Amino acid sequence: MGSTPLEVGAVGLGCMPMSWAYSTSRQRGGESLRAVHRALDLGGGATLLDTADMYGPFTNELLLGRVLKERRSEAFVSTKVGLLVGEGHLVANGRPGYVRRACDASLRRLQTDVIDLYQLHRADPEVPVEETWGAMAELVREGKVRSLGLCAVGGARSGRRPGAGPYRGTLQQLSRLQRVFPVTAVEAELSVWSREALETLLPWCTGHGVAFLAATPLGSGYLTGTLTPGEGFEPDDARARHPRFTAEMMAANQPIVAGLRRVAARHGQDVTPAQVALAWVLAQGPHVVAVPGTKQERWAGQNAAAAALRLTAEDLAELRNLPAALD
Ligand SMILES: NC(=O)c1ccc[n+]([C@@H]2O[C@H](COP(=O)([O-])OP(=O)(O)OC[C@H]3O[C@@H](n4cnc5c(N)ncnc54)[C@H](OP(=O)(O)O)[C@@H]3O)[C@@H](O)[C@H]2O)c1
Repeated sequence: MGSTPLEVGAVGLGCMPMSWAYSTSRQRGGESLRAVHRALDLGGGATLLDTADMYGPFTNELLLGRVLKERRSEAFVSTKVGLLVGEGHLVANGRPGYVRRACDASLRRLQTDVIDLYQLHRADPEVPVEETWGAMAELVREGKVRSLGLCAVGGARSGRRPGAGPYRGTLQQLSRLQRVFPVTAVEAELSVWSREALETLLPWCTGHGVAFLAATPLGSGYLTGTLTPGEGFEPDDARARHPRFTAEMMAANQPIVAGLRRVAARHGQDVTPAQVALAWVLAQGPHVVAVPGTKQERWAGQNAAAAALRLTAEDLAELRNLPAALD
């Protein structure tokens, strides 16, 4: 993990789909538990399990706690603080007292006495970010947390101001945080169809010895080639309101999936577009960890196996030349 002695496998497990965001009617505790076990079985070193108190809310940490009470040493636990589910919208809370209470509650739910990476989910506009980060640093000194991370806001689809470079606000925040306590990891979207982080954010991380956790590396499932344009999503699925997931845009972006399929075919009939999408993410730098999300045991196994897939220069050139995503 960046310049710390902490180590994780190259492919982690994003736990959000088990309790939040996608096809909620298909969220099943038993299947999710099997997915976590599978990821730990295949992880190759400690497997990064990425959760947040707001996934559920709270139920995702509770679910992971059931596994961690037996297999804590095989996992690298990443959870997040600072974003709460309000009535119909999300609310940031970065007050130091709240951060301390939220950490104790996460530790209880996760059934562990230490969180490996504690991430600030969103900075609170009402609280100077140094105050929130200072409270998080105190948790490291108390031994409740091993390292700190920041979730970045400011990719192409975040509504950033026109003309402002991607992640401009995040980069300013990172400089302020580094003066208070070292940043160990930054988590932001990075995938074949969302490459904004390559412009300034990933180079900043590389230059500062900070790990980069690639969130949404499968394009919320689209890049796996298993979603059918026009099939639709459940009303509470985040993709039902997402501009890239209208039937029209899903059809228009099929050339990207076709490119992933072509590369996969060169590596054998068992290799999938999802694995190529993950291998592309891992090829972007030595401190990049891919964090694909799933609630299914079979996908957790397939995704973990992508750590062994090495793309050739020809593959990378073909993926570089894929058309930009339309949305
Ligand atoms: N820090 C932040 O602010 C932030 C924001 C977004 C995400 N994240 C983290 O990043 C993780 C990954 O992002 P994500 O879960 O939104 O999106 P993702 O990893 O791009 O895609 C997840 C979707 O892909 C499907 N899937 C996974 N592996 C597959 C495979 N091999 N074949 C076919 N389908 C597959 C999953 O289906 P099933 O649901 O059926 O398993 C799920 O619907 C999250 O879980 C979360 O931990 C962090």
